[in-house]
Amino acid sequence: MKKENNQELMEKIVSLCKRRGFVFPGSEIYGGLANSFDYGPLGVELKNNIKNLWWKRFVHKRDDLIGIDAALIMNPKVWQASGHLETFSDPLAECKKCHHRFRADKIDGKKCPDCGGELTASKQFNLMLKTFLGPVEDAENTVYFRPETAQAMFVDFKNVLDTTRKKIPFGIAQIGKAFRNEITPGNFIFRTREFEQMEIEYFIKEEEWGEVFEMWQEEMWFWMTDVLGLNKKNIHELNVPEKELAHYSKKTIDFEYEFPFGKDELYGLAYRTDFDLKNHYKEPPYEDAETGEKFYPNVIEPTFGVDRSVLAVLCDAYTEEKDRVVLKLKPSLAPYKVAIFPLLKNKPELVAKAREVYNMLRKEFNVAFDDRGNIGKRYYSQDEIGTPFCCTIDFDTLENDTVTLRDRDTTKQERIKILEISTCIKKQL
Ligand code: GAP
Repeated sequence: MKKENNQELMEKIVSLCKRRGFVFPGSEIYGGLANSFDYGPLGVELKNNIKNLWWKRFVHKRDDLIGIDAALIMNPKVWQASGHLETFSDPLAECKKCHHRFRADKIDGKKCPDCGGELTASKQFNLMLKTFLGPVEDAENTVYFRPETAQAMFVDFKNVLDTTRKKIPFGIAQIGKAFRNEITPGNFIFRTREFEQMEIEYFIKEEEWGEVFEMWQEEMWFWMTDVLGLNKKNIHELNVPEKELAHYSKKTIDFEYEFPFGKDELYGLAYRTDFDLKNHYKEPPYEDAETGEKFYPNVIEPTFGVDRSVLAVLCDAYTEEKDRVVLKLKPSLAPYKVAIFPLLKNKPELVAKAREVYNMLRKEFNVAFDDRGNIGKRYYSQDEIGTPFCCTIDFDTLENDTVTLRDRDTTKQERIKILEISTCIKKQL
């Protein structure tokens, strides 16, 4: 099926996600909660694989990045200083007839897209999600769930510096939840009010910003195409026009992905200048070890939405062939790396041998075990969830310790030794 602006394709992906345990509607037995979703047993594996690969690539493999994991709720002064309380808002317009609410900047024309009614003039609606800490619900106890993970990297900057003795250029990375009271959430896990981000704040000297911006642009391309395996054709760069830049940014590139519902933002790369550190620190927080000069470093911020990564990966991998649906996930992302099948369920010696192989491989990988129905059906079931290999234990296995290993994409089978299975899988990771 061609991947065009295609509601039917999106419905198939959403349905597969629910049927196979990738993503469920949140609180479903209570009628759901608008646009909230839960990751099921396979979804959490896919999501964790993405997060782990990101952490490995950007934190563990680089000398110039370190990680933190900060609290979701921060002192409200953080949001005062960052400008979020004042400016983190979208224009909201309401239909005078059906009272549906819309983001005024996302609709064409002046009429209600749902009923054609007249719209009110738009007013700014702050996206910060409020709650109270402690038993008294008053202004003094009002706090906010963070709308981005970024601010903790600025607020903790001095502590990180003091404990790691890093010198610029270096970056702080974090993966975690963020919350926004979006006016119009939608398109499955694309826009929700609770979501996860993987963010890097990379601290530099002002004059380096152009060069470092390009370095991160390349890194982000590598991540999208080589690590996530997204098709280059489906990704486009948008140089965000000056009048649409976020309040902190001097230059932003959005990486847009061609989702089935249309092209929209996947990730962003922003030059945040020294805006944030200047807002949070009265004194320059950084001192050049050689010159003794104190100054406010500038910041380049590559930001990656976790849920949008999951969605892009699923859309890119979803493939319909003549008689099967295959999720052509990169093996490193697949929830299971291999599925083990005893040829027949009613032959205890085959089942015992299959369990032995299963237990051996589980020491290294997440492995599926399936002994139901015929082998063909078991293959299709694994193809649909993206398992790169299926391994069948048959009567020859009992004789000579060999198995058939079937490749998800080619459907070709080869006969290999049990002890070679692990190497075959690792070659693909
Ligand atoms: N710290 C910068 C920042 O937060 P952003 O463009 O507002 O920038 C960064 O958000 C990324 O977070 C987006 O590119 C997107 O992947 C993800 N994101 C933002 N809002 C989201 C939402 N409501 N639902 C899911 N993901 C979202």
